[in-house]
Order: sequence, then structure tokens, then C-alpha cells
Amino acid sequence: MRLSATGVELILDLAAGYPVVLHWGQPLGDLAVADLRAATTPAAPGADLDDPVDPGMLRETARGYTGRPALRGHRGTHAFSPLFAVEDVAVDRAGATVRMADAAAGLALSLTLTLTEHGVLLIDQALTNAGDDVYSLDELSTCLPVPDRATETLDFSGRWLLERQPQRLPFAPGLRLREGREGRSGHDHTIVQCALTADATTERGEVWALGVLWSGGIRHLAERDVRGRGALGAGELLEAGEAQLAPGETYAAPTVAAFYSGAGLDGISAASHAWLRARPGRPASARPLTLNVWEAVYFDHDLATLTALADRAATVGVERFVLDDGWFGARRDDTSGLGDWVVSADAWPTGLAPLVEHVHGLGMQFGLWFEGEMVSPDSDLYRAHPDWILQVPGRVPPPARFQQVLDLVNPDAYAHVLGQVSALISEHGIDYLKWDHNRFLTDAGHAGTPAPRRQTQAIYRLFDELKRRHPGLEIESCASGGGRVDLGMVFHADRFWTSDQNDPLERQQIQRWTSLVIPPEMLGSHIGPTTSHTTGRTHGVGLRAATALFGHAGLEWNLLEATEDELAAITRFAALYREQRDLLHSGRVVRVEHPDPSAVVHGVVAADASRALFAYVQLATSSGITPAAMRLPGLTPDARYRVRVRDVVTGEVIQKRGPGWMGGDDVSGIALSGAALAQVGLRPPILRPEQAMLVEAVRI
Ligand code: DGJ
Repeated sequence: MRLSATGVELILDLAAGYPVVLHWGQPLGDLAVADLRAATTPAAPGADLDDPVDPGMLRETARGYTGRPALRGHRGTHAFSPLFAVEDVAVDRAGATVRMADAAAGLALSLTLTLTEHGVLLIDQALTNAGDDVYSLDELSTCLPVPDRATETLDFSGRWLLERQPQRLPFAPGLRLREGREGRSGHDHTIVQCALTADATTERGEVWALGVLWSGGIRHLAERDVRGRGALGAGELLEAGEAQLAPGETYAAPTVAAFYSGAGLDGISAASHAWLRARPGRPASARPLTLNVWEAVYFDHDLATLTALADRAATVGVERFVLDDGWFGARRDDTSGLGDWVVSADAWPTGLAPLVEHVHGLGMQFGLWFEGEMVSPDSDLYRAHPDWILQVPGRVPPPARFQQVLDLVNPDAYAHVLGQVSALISEHGIDYLKWDHNRFLTDAGHAGTPAPRRQTQAIYRLFDELKRRHPGLEIESCASGGGRVDLGMVFHADRFWTSDQNDPLERQQIQRWTSLVIPPEMLGSHIGPTTSHTTGRTHGVGLRAATALFGHAGLEWNLLEATEDELAAITRFAALYREQRDLLHSGRVVRVEHPDPSAVVHGVVAADASRALFAYVQLATSSGITPAAMRLPGLTPDARYRVRVRDVVTGEVIQKRGPGWMGGDDVSGIALSGAALAQVGLRPPILRPEQAMLVEAVRI
């Protein structure tokens, strides 16, 4: 069976009675599958099986495979080594469903492969217990082999304030396992596990990647087995005893997305962004410039100040005003109040209505912060229902940020949160929720049984229900910054808070890599305070603006303290964002391989290549006294483009004379072909460290 779309082909061979992937990569053209099978069947070495077989997608031990099987489980002392045989295959336009069974083990497995028009392969597996006693499922991963020339791996690590840091390693023999056990995807979540050819860069080479459409415990793996074959795997990480399938019961694994690119890492982004831009429920409206008040006022809520801040925000061009933590219950700091989603009479003696009405009156949307999956021990909710937390009976989990996790599997706790949040949305006409999740799950039990999976399903259900009740409502997924940015939440939330790190130097890398599969318009990206609250470094507004521009842009800064010059710069930035956001939120993300590590170059090219906006960001002093040329790849090679600097974020530069193409003002006198821009590029001006320049190319 062959599935092909948009430069991707999967060839699945069922001739042996089980699913074997003969090829995952570029379309192979005219061939007979039998010949491909012959070409890929290895010799029989000594000290191995007498008849070598491909382990297939399920990698069953029963076939003589000694690497990690895709399915692990048991019925106590038996059914520990399944062996599936295909029973039937149903093929449709975009894919196929293969039904398999192991009668002796009492298991039935359905495997559905769907290749989207964007070239993203979606894989669904569902395991049914067809036996007459309980089957304990430990793992059901999706595994795909990668070619031998995929000799390197790439995944992403992270922590609070430093999410999505790339780790590129040799694809060495053995098992590389990335497991998230936080009950949320976590700051360390890789989003995808990649395998690459050694020559692969952002711009060229081959990349294979797997990611899971899930926001709870997740496992990614890259394994090179003893026979030298490499494979990627991904799936949900189940807690011990979490999936006890009763007779007739089915476990539906979260969908796994498989990406292939013959055009480097940016090709993975192009496929993923196109796929996610077509997702159901994607907001159709332009992404509003947002002001979040967290780093402006923290818990210091005061109607007069926030009203003045709203006025200032509207003046500079903000379109959405978000009131963060501190407006409810006894929440005067982070030690109390979570769970009591009622407006604090102490902080808001006249209620929220005056602020909400003021914000709406200024023509801005109003957003409100919640952390509905959590409860503070110092709260009315906890005092009334101390048993409404995820826990092992008789034990309270260690507190983190002074809070516990509310058990949303408990219908009463779920109804409490849904009811209070929904009532506030209705009462105030709230347009937007920023939904936080500031602690990981430990001892995540419901009524004595493991519950991380059901807790994740509950938050999806809650978000979906809030959106159903309040059409047009948008939700931002935040978890101490980027602790819940994943391919599952993209289908339930509309924006991610990418990181609590607002220092633009750190942000450049965090955004560059978080957008590998998540489209930039979903990545909240704010101009923070002049002196960063997280690093203590001071940056001009130019670099901060140039960084925020390339996501769903916003501000998180007390504008009441900004100077006239800064306010003017922000106003220009807001206008530029409004002008460019159609391009930035629909085009192809380009991460340029720049030769000098002192600078980062990236951009977005319109889908029809009619225009592009690139950023040159000088992180440190350039190694050459004249900085290396900035290339602008991705445009139509034989079309001509006029290039010009958008001076909005260019600070004062130290040079006797600017580079030839800049011609003394911000409008370039030159036009170059897309090929010349990609290969020769443009000589940057001599920027100081921490300055940035935006260059626009428009087809003529
Ligand atoms: C963590 C978030 O990442 C911040 O943006 C802010 O909302 C705080 N929580 C509020 O407590």
C-alpha cells in the first residue's frame, strides 16, 4: 500500500501478514513493491535469526526482535509476548485501517494511517482486550523505521525560562528515551523527536520526526538496534497500572504525527504549520496585539492603575488586554486562593466590571487568567473539599508553588471549575482565558487509581465545553511559561505562552525552536520590561520588538513607566505588526544557517513568495569587523525583489558609511533576484551587540 502527498511517501507492506514499512521518505516513483521488498531484505548474518525478518511497526519480540517492542503488556503471567496477524484492511482516499488480532493473547489492534494533503502522516492505534480477563497495558507506541543514512538525532530539552533547547547527537547504537512524567507535557518536552542525515541543516538535508498529539505523560524514542536499524517511536507514557483493560475495553492511543522533509528542518515546519493552520476551530481573525499585565503589576491589582494602563495600551495600538493572576479569592500572592474563582472584594471592591467595561469601551478584548486545574491548601475550596486533589489515599503530594492539583476526574470538582469559570465569562463578556498550570503532577491518583490520562482528557473536555458555551472564546495554554506547548493542546487552545523568559536574547532561541512544528501565530511573544525580570539584563526596545514581532505579538511591561521615545517606538512596532501579521502568520518560516554565531537570521516568506520579512539579530560582537552577509533564502529564484530596511527596530549604528545597498535612507535603491538574495545576500550594517534589523523584500 502506498500513501503519497506533498513530497512524502509511505510504503506499507502487508504481504507477510503484518505491517512492515518498506519506505518512509520522498516519493519513489514507478516500482513494484515486491522488488522494493527484495531490495530492502537484508542478508542473514551469523549469530542471528535463520530467516531474517523485518520487525514491522509493532516490533514484536515474537518475531525474533530484540529491541524495544511497540506494545508492552500482560495478563499477569501470560499474554506477555503478542504476535499480531492482519485480519482485514480498509483503504480510503487518504489512508487505510489495518485490523490485526492475536487470538492466543486475546488482543485486537487497529492501526489507521492517514496522510494529510500537507504531507503529515497521522497514525492512530487502538488496542482492544478481546480476552476474558483483564489485560494490563504498559505501552503502546508508534514506531517507524528510518533509513540507515539518518545518522543523527535531534530533540529538545528545557526547563523553566529555557524551553526547547536543541540537542543534536549521533544516532548511536542503543535506545535514546525521552520521557515526560509530569502529567503535563512539561518544559522539557521535545514536541518532536527527529532523526536526520548528517548534512541536514535548517535549510537542506533529510529529516524524519515523530510527535504525539497529547499533553500528559509522553514518551519519545530513537533506537538503533543490534542489527543496526534505526527507528523513531512515540506514544503516551502510561503510569504503572493506569491502563487495565477490562474484557471488551479499548485503549485508543493518542494520535502520533510523522513528518518527513527533504528540505531540512524548515521543511518539517512548512508541513506542520500548513497542517495546523487547517485545524478545526483555528481562529479566523488576525491575532490581536496583546498586553498582559503580569510583569507590569504582578499581584498589585489596583483599578486606577490598571485603567490607566488600559488607556495607555489602547493609545499605542493594543487590541487585547489580559488581567493576570491575583484578581480572585484570597490570592494576594502565590500562596493562596487557587480554586476560589470569584472576584476578590478585597482587591476589587467594585468588582471587575469597571475595568472590563473600560477595556471593552476602548475597543480592546478582555482576557482573564485562571489556573483551574489547581487548588491552594489555603483556599475555601480546599478547606471544604480536601479530598478533591489528585493523591494516593492517605498521602498529600509534596507541594509545588504552594499548591496541589485538583482532581478533575472527580465530576464534582470538574463541575465546580466549569461552573465558576463559565459564570464569570458570561457575566463579564470575557473574550479570552489565559489558563496556567504551574505545577507538575505527582502521586496523580483518583480514588486510589492512577489518573494522569483521565486528568488530561478532562482538561481537553473542559476547554472544549467552555468554547462550546461561549462561541468565539479563545484560550491560551500556559504552564509556568512553556510547560504545556505540545501537539495535543494545539487542538484545544489557541495560543501558547512560549516561555516566562522575556529577555529577547534568550527568546530568540526559544522561539526559533518552539516554532519547529508549532506555527508562530500560536506562540505568545511579548516585549518585556526594559530590564528583564528574569535575567536582569537591559535591552533597548528595538531588540525586544524585533523578537516579539515574529510570534503572536504582545507587551508585558508597565507602559506607565515607558518614556515618550519608547512609547513612540511601541506605536511604530504595533503598526508594523498590524501591517505584517498576515504574512508572518501564513508564510513559510525560514531559519537561515548564518555562518557567524554572533548573529541569528530568520524570516517568513509569503506562501506565494511575493514578499518576505527577515530579521538579522546581532546577539554579540560579530567575529568579522564587517559582519557576514545576511542571506534571504526561500524567494522565487528568477523573480526580482526590492529590498529595504524597516527602520523600526534599528538602533543607532556605528559606521562611517552604511553598506552599499542601504543608500543612506531606509529605502534601498537595489532590486535583486531571489537567487541572488538566497546566495549572495546583503551585507548588514555594523550593528552593536543586541541590535536588530528587519529587512523586507517585495517582488516587483
Ligand atoms: C506563570 C506564568 O507563566 C506567568 O505568565 C504568570 O501568569 C504567572 N504564572 C502567574 O502566577
